[in-house]
Amino acid sequence: MGQRFLPYLIWLLISSLYWVFCVADNRLHPDNRIFVNQTITSSGGIFALGFFSPGNSTENRYIGIWYNSIPEKTVVWVANREAPLVDASGVLTVMADGNIALIDGKGVLLWSSNLTGIPVNTSAVLLDSGNFVLRDSEENVLWESFNQPSDTYLPTMDISLNINTGKSIDLTAWKDPQDPSPGNFSFGLDRKSLLQLVVKEGSKILWRSQPWRARQAFVVGNFNTSDTLILSFSFTEKVLSLYTLDTSGRLNFSFLNPRGNSWSLMSSFPSNACDIYKPCGAFSFCKLEGSAHSCRCLEGFEPTNMKEWEVRNFSRGCLRKVPLRLNKKDEFLRYETMKLPDDFSIWWNRTAEQCMTGCLDDGQCTAYAIANFTGGDRIGSRCLVWSGELIDLVKAPNSGEDLYVRVASAQLAPTVAVVATLLMGASFFLLFRKRKSRKGK
Ligand SMILES: *[C@@H]1O[C@H](CO)[C@@H](O)[C@H](O)[C@H]1NC(C)=O
Ligand SMILES: *[C@@H]1O[C@H](CO)[C@@H](O)[C@H](O)[C@H]1NC(C)=O
Ligand SMILES: *[C@@H]1O[C@H](CO)[C@@H](O)[C@H](O)[C@H]1NC(C)=O
Ligand SMILES: *[C@@H]1O[C@H](CO)[C@@H](O)[C@H](O)[C@H]1NC(C)=O
Ligand SMILES: *[C@@H]1O[C@H](CO)[C@@H](O)[C@H](O)[C@H]1NC(C)=O
Ligand SMILES: *[C@@H]1O[C@H](CO)[C@@H](O)[C@H](O)[C@H]1NC(C)=O
Ligand SMILES: *[C@@H]1O[C@H](CO)[C@@H](O)[C@H](O)[C@H]1NC(C)=O
Ligand SMILES: *[C@@H]1O[C@H](CO)[C@@H](O)[C@H](O)[C@H]1NC(C)=O
Ligand SMILES: *[C@@H]1O[C@H](CO)[C@@H](O)[C@H](O)[C@H]1NC(C)=O
Ligand SMILES: *[C@@H]1O[C@H](CO)[C@@H](O)[C@H](O)[C@H]1NC(C)=O
Repeated sequence: MGQRFLPYLIWLLISSLYWVFCVADNRLHPDNRIFVNQTITSSGGIFALGFFSPGNSTENRYIGIWYNSIPEKTVVWVANREAPLVDASGVLTVMADGNIALIDGKGVLLWSSNLTGIPVNTSAVLLDSGNFVLRDSEENVLWESFNQPSDTYLPTMDISLNINTGKSIDLTAWKDPQDPSPGNFSFGLDRKSLLQLVVKEGSKILWRSQPWRARQAFVVGNFNTSDTLILSFSFTEKVLSLYTLDTSGRLNFSFLNPRGNSWSLMSSFPSNACDIYKPCGAFSFCKLEGSAHSCRCLEGFEPTNMKEWEVRNFSRGCLRKVPLRLNKKDEFLRYETMKLPDDFSIWWNRTAEQCMTGCLDDGQCTAYAIANFTGGDRIGSRCLVWSGELIDLVKAPNSGEDLYVRVASAQLAPTVAVVATLLMGASFFLLFRKRKSRKGK
C-alpha cells in the first residue's frame, strides 16, 4: 500500500512547492482579471484555469480548467463551449453585478455565470477538486462549475437528476477534438429507469450500466415526492482519476500513472460486444464468445424466427412457448449473475417475499430482482419489476445479479423442456440432413 502511494505523495509535494513559489492570487474578484496569457492555480497547485486553444487550432480560445502539473494538457472543463474568443483581447473577470464573465476586446459578453439577484461583493476561486466556485463575502457558494460539467467527471462531482423538475447534471461530449461545443453524446442518469446510468446519442441509448444496488447513488429527500436523485461515484484514489466521455461516445475511466505525467486507461464503456445496448432481441440474453457475442433464448422461450436466428440475426428475440396464466399458478425461474434488463419500475423497501408476490399479483409483471440498497447513510431494499418484454439482458458472471423470470407453472415446465429439447433435436437433425443432401447434390 505505502509503496503504491509513495509516488502520488511525492507528486503532491512537488505540486505544493510549485504553488508556494509561483502563485500569488488565486482568487478572481472585481479588481483582478485574467488575460489570455495568464492562469490561476488551485491552492494545492493541482488544477489551473485559463485560456486554451483545443487541438491544433490557434484561432479559437476557450476558458478551461486542466491539470496543472501534467505535461499533456488534460482539459476537464470548458466555460464558453459555444462562444470562442476569436482573438487575444479577452478577459475573464468578476463583474460589478457579481457574476463571473468572459468579455472580448470589444466589450461583448461571451459567457457568464448568468445569475440574477446575487450579492455584488463576490469572488471566484479554483479549488483543488477542480471545481471553480463563485462565493459571496460570507463564503456561501452561489455558482460552481461542477454543476455545469463538460465531458469530464472528477471525483466528488455529482451527476444528478431532479425527478420533479427534470433538471439534470450530465456530461456532454465535445463535438470533435477541435471543438468543445456540445456534441450528440451525453452521459447521465436514465430518466426512464432511474437507478442506472446511460450513454446516449441524442435520445438513443448506446450503453447502460447495471442498475445500482449500493453506494453509488443516493436519494435526497423522499423518493415519492421531492426529489433529487444524486449519483456519486466512489473513488479511493481521489484526485488522480477521471471519467471522460470522448467524441465517439465512449466513456473512459483513467488513472494518472505513478510518474504523474500521463493517463492510463483503466476501463472503457461499452467494454465488449454484449455491452453495446440491446445486443439481443427480447427474452434472450447475450453471452460473449471470445470477442464476438451470441444470443440465447431464456428457458421456456424459442426464437421468434428460426431462419434469422440461425444466421445470427438475433434482433427479433424469442417468444414464450407456453403463455403465462397470469395468476398464482405462474412461477419464477432464477437466472444467476445477469445484467438486469432495461425498463423497470422500482418498489422500495420490500422483502424478497413481498417483491415476488407483488410481481405475481400484477397481471403485467414478467420478472423481478431484489437487492439491498445502501447509499449515503440510507439503507433499504429495492425491488425491480418488469412488465412486458425483457430487453438488453446479458450474462454477466462478474457483475451480475439474480433475475427471476415469470413462466407458466411447474406442471408445464418439465413437459415444455422435454418438448423443447425434442424440437431442438429435430430441427438440428433436419438441418444436418439438409446440409448433407445439399452437399450431396
Ligand atoms: C498579458 O497580456 C496583457 C494584455 O495584453 C499585458 O498587459 C500583460 O503585460 C501580459 N502579461 C505578460 C506576463 O505577458
Ligand atoms: C495536429 O498536428 C499534428 C502535427 O502537425 C498532427 O500530427 C495531428 O494529427 C494534428 N491533430 C489534429 C487533431 O488535427
Ligand atoms: C442567461 O440566462 C437567460 C435565462 O435565464 C438566458 O435567456 C440567457 O441566454 C443566458 N445568457 C447567457 C449569456 O448565457
Ligand atoms: C467585500 O468583501 C470583503 C471580504 O471578502 C470585505 O473586506 C469588503 O469590505 C467587502 N466590501 C463590501 C462593499 O461589502
Ligand atoms: C449529431 O446528430 C445530427 C442529427 O442526427 C447530425 O446531423 C450531426 O452531424 C451529428 N453531429 C455530430 C458532431 O456527430
Ligand atoms: C411511497 O408511496 C408508496 C405508495 O405509493 C407508499 O406505500 C410508501 O409508503 C411511500 N413511501 C414513502 C417513504 O413515503
Ligand atoms: C477511450 O477508450 C478507447 C478504447 O476503448 C480508445 O480507443 C479511445 O481513444 C479513448 N478515448 C480517449 C479520448 O482517450
Ligand atoms: C435482421 O432481422 C430484422 C427483422 O427481420 C431485419 O429488419 C434486419 O434487416 C435483419 N438484419 C440483418 C443484418 O440482416
Ligand atoms: C437484505 O438485508 C436483510 C436484512 O439485513 C436480509 O435479511 C436480506 O436477506 C437481504 N436481502 C438481500 C437480497 O440481500
Ligand atoms: C427504506 O427504508 C430505509 C430504512 O428504514 C429508509 O431510510 C428509507 O427512507 C426507506 N425508503 C423509502 C423509499 O421508503
